[in-house]
Amino acid sequence: MKRVFSGIQPTGNIHLGNYLGAVKNWVEKQAEKENFFCIVDLHSLTVPQNPEQLRFETRSLAAMLIAAGIDPDKSTLFIQSHVPAHAEGCWLLNCVTPLGWLQRMTQYKDKSAKQESVLTGLLDYPVLMAGDILLYDADEVPVGEDQKQHVELARDIAQRFNHVYEEEFFVIPQPIIPQAGARVMGLDEPTNKMSKSLAEKRGHAVRLLDEPKEILRSFKRAVTDSGREIQFSTDPDKAGVNNLLGIYKAVTGKSEAEVIADFSEARGYGDLKVGVAQVVIDMLNPIRERYQMLMQDPAELDRLLARGAQQAAAVAAPKVDQMKHTMGLVLPA
Ligand code: TYM
Repeated sequence: MKRVFSGIQPTGNIHLGNYLGAVKNWVEKQAEKENFFCIVDLHSLTVPQNPEQLRFETRSLAAMLIAAGIDPDKSTLFIQSHVPAHAEGCWLLNCVTPLGWLQRMTQYKDKSAKQESVLTGLLDYPVLMAGDILLYDADEVPVGEDQKQHVELARDIAQRFNHVYEEEFFVIPQPIIPQAGARVMGLDEPTNKMSKSLAEKRGHAVRLLDEPKEILRSFKRAVTDSGREIQFSTDPDKAGVNNLLGIYKAVTGKSEAEVIADFSEARGYGDLKVGVAQVVIDMLNPIRERYQMLMQDPAELDRLLARGAQQAAAVAAPKVDQMKHTMGLVLPA
C-alpha cells in the first residue's frame, strides 16, 4: 500500500479550493492508501496569529476534515505540534538545506513582498513541510497546484540528505495534483487563485461552511466576461467562465464534454452560475451539518486527535532518532 502524507493549515477560512484541490482527493483515495493527514498549526505561526482564534480554528478544522469524510479509523489525523519530531526534523533538515533554495520559492517571494516585516519562519516554512513528508517516508503527497514547488523542494532536500549521509535514507515523495480542481480561482478575480487570506472578502471564495444562500450569492456575483459562450478556454479574458466550468467538473467528476453538454440549454452565464452553485451547495450541505454535530462534542474530537498523534509519533519519532544518529548526534542512553 502506498503511503500518503498531506497537510492543511488551520488558519483562515477553508474554502472550495482547499476542498477540491486537496481534501476531496484525500477522502476519495483513503481506502486504497495508508494515510497521514496533518493539521499544520506550526505552519500557521509563520504569519502573526491571534492565539485564541488559532486554538479554536485548529479544532474546528479537525471537525471539518472528519465532516468532509476523513475517517479517523482509516487515516491518521493529527495536529502537527502534538508530534515534536516535526519541529526537530525541521531543524535537522535546515542544516542540509542551502538558503538559496528557500529564497527562490515563489510563495515566499509573493508573501514576503506583501509584508513589511518578514518572520524567519516564513522563509523556513518549506523545510518544516519537507520534514512533515520525509519523516513518514511518504510515497505520495496529494496537494493543489500551489504546493507543487514545495513538494519538489522536499524531494531535493531528501536527495541531498541521502547523498550527504546515507543512500536511500529517505523515500523520494511524488506530488499528486488532481486533474480537476488543482487551481480554483477567486470568483471575484479569476486570474488569481482562491486564497484563505482573502476568503473574508465578499464574493472572493466559497467557504466550506457557507450557507446555501450565501453560496448562491457568491456565484451570482462571480466575474465573467461580456460574451455568452460556455466553453473551457485558456484565454485570460474567459478565465471566469473557465473557473466556473472547472469547479463544476471537479465537483461532479464529469468529463469536459459532459460538462458542456449539461449547459447546452443554458441561456447565458446566469444559468451557468446557478447550475454551478447548485452542485456546490449539494456537495457542502451534508459536510456543514456533520460539522455542526461534531463541534458539539469537543472532548471526542480531542480524543481522536490524541489517538492520531500517538499513531503519527510511532512512525515519526523513530525516524527522527535515525536522522540524529545518521548525522552524528549521540542519542540518550
Ligand atoms: P494550505 O493550508 O494553504 O492548503 C491546503 C491544500 O489546499 C490546496 N489549495 C488549493 N487547491 C486548489 N485551488 C486553490 N485555490 C487552493 N488553495 C489551496 C493546497 O495546495 C493544499 O494542498 N504548506 C501547506 C500545508 C502543508 C503540507 C505539508 C502539505 C504543510 N506540510 C506536507 C502537504 C505535505 C499549506 O499551507 O497548504
